[in-house]
Formats: sequence, C-alpha cells, structure tokens
Amino acid sequence: MYTSIDSGAFVTTTPHPLADLMRESSKADHEDAENSSFIADLMSGGLSLDHYCALLAQYAHLYTALESSAAILRSQQRFTQLLDPRLDRSALILADLDLLGGTPAEQSPAIVKYVSRIHQVTAEAPHRYLAHHYVRYLGDLSGGQILARKMQQNYGAGAAALSAWDFSALGKLKPYKDQYRESLNQLRLNPQHTAELLDEVRLAFGFNKALFHELAEGTVSTPESTAKRAAPVLAEVDVA
Ligand code: HEM
Repeated sequence: MYTSIDSGAFVTTTPHPLADLMRESSKADHEDAENSSFIADLMSGGLSLDHYCALLAQYAHLYTALESSAAILRSQQRFTQLLDPRLDRSALILADLDLLGGTPAEQSPAIVKYVSRIHQVTAEAPHRYLAHHYVRYLGDLSGGQILARKMQQNYGAGAAALSAWDFSALGKLKPYKDQYRESLNQLRLNPQHTAELLDEVRLAFGFNKALFHELAEGTVSTPESTAKRAAPVLAEVDVA
C-alpha cells in the first residue's frame, strides 16, 4: 500500500527509510512507465518478438553502462553491499538477442542521453548512480519477471532466450529485494544527497519512458525478420 509523501519536505524532517522514499516519490513515474504504450502493448501480446529485440538491443547499451559504472564504484569500495556483480545482465542480453534472431543496434537518441548521464553521475555524484541501479535492477526483479513470462506466453520465447530475466543465482527474489532495500536504508545519506538521489530516480524513470516512447513511435529500428530463430528458442519452458 502506497501513501502519499512530499519527498522534498520529508527527508529533512523525518527519518523515513530511504527505500520507502525512493518508491513513494517515484510511484507516479512507475505507473507511467508501466502504462507506456510500448510496454503495455508488448505485455498484452499486441507487438512481436522483433519489438522485444529492439528493446533488448537498446538495453544492451544501457546495461553495459550500468555495469561498467558498478565495476568502477566497487573498485573504489563504494556501495559494495548494493552493487552485486550477480545482477550483471549485459552479456545475457546479448546472448538472448542472438538466440532470438535479433541484431545489435546503434544507441538510440534516448539511450545516448541515458548512458551519458550514467557515466556523468558515476564520475561526479556517485550517490546519484544508485538511482539508476535501483530503477533497472529492482525493476527487473519485479515487473521484469512478469515481462519475461509474457514474452513466453504471448510470443513463444523459451527460457533459454529469456536468460536476462533469470536471477535464480540470487536465490528467492523477495528476500533479496528486502535485503537490497535494507542496504539502501543503511546508507545514511545526508539530506542533500538523499534529495539528489530521489531526484535522480525520477530522471531515471524519465530516460526509460523516453526509450519506450521512441520504440512506440518506431524511431528505433526493429531488427529484421524472425527467420533465423531456432526451434529450441521457441520451446515451451517455464521462466520463473
Ligand atoms: C512491465 C510492466 C511492469 C510491471 C507489471 C511492474 C510491476 C511491478 C511490481 C508488481 C512491483 C512491486 C514488486 C515488489 O513489491 O516486490 C514493481 C516494482 C518496481 N518496478 Fe515495476 N513493473 C513494470 C514496469 C517497470 C518499469 C518499466 C520499470 C523501470 C523503468 C520498473 C521499475 C520498478 C522498480 C524500481 C520497482 C521497485 C519499487 C520498490 O519497491 O522500491 N517497473 N514493479
């Protein structure tokens, strides 16, 4: 159950847990992202695996940036309790893309800006990087699991081609997400950094929305035909 919080005023006056602030202050952004036409159409079966591949091709760039930044921050001993290398997805995304018969693509305009922002905050304001980590990975551990199931049910993608959403190496996802939130709460950021992190969470959702918008408008090319898809990729295998 969500309650409404004016995050700007809240952080300076109460010890509200950071993870709650991040979720509450971005609730409307989450709904927008979830209801964006590209995601809604993809989830409802109204698109195709080619559209999913177009998304994956852009995610490959996004996760490469997220993961190179995480490696830099880990090497600086920053936020190591959150930056779990088992979350890394870029190699899996590229493998899935290949199995699905998709092809890598140039960075779309939205992804150019998104990736550039990730590199910038990593260098200049590392606490802001955590917003990008949270929005993608906690999203992948939540709605991402539903998306994977829909890709299987609606488009026949098999488990082997949905490896990007397979986080079984983490164990059960709920305790993992609870621990992630607890690690956020333990950060004890000062009020300014807290406000900046909350601001960055909303920016991160905005980058995602911009990407979904591009994909919906068809301004990002979808990889060509499904012809080279291999039979095992279309096998009926449970994802979760
Ligand atoms: C495909 C449509 C989506 C569905 C059905 C969905 C569903 C959900 C659900 C059920 C949760 C709650 C999980 C829990 O309490 O453990 C959640 C959390 C989350 N989702 Fe989504 N989601 C979707 C899309 C997205 C997108 C596109 C993003 C990011 C761009 C995103 C980011 C997040 C984040 C960061 C959380 C964690 C919230 C928190 O507990 O702090 N989701 N999502």
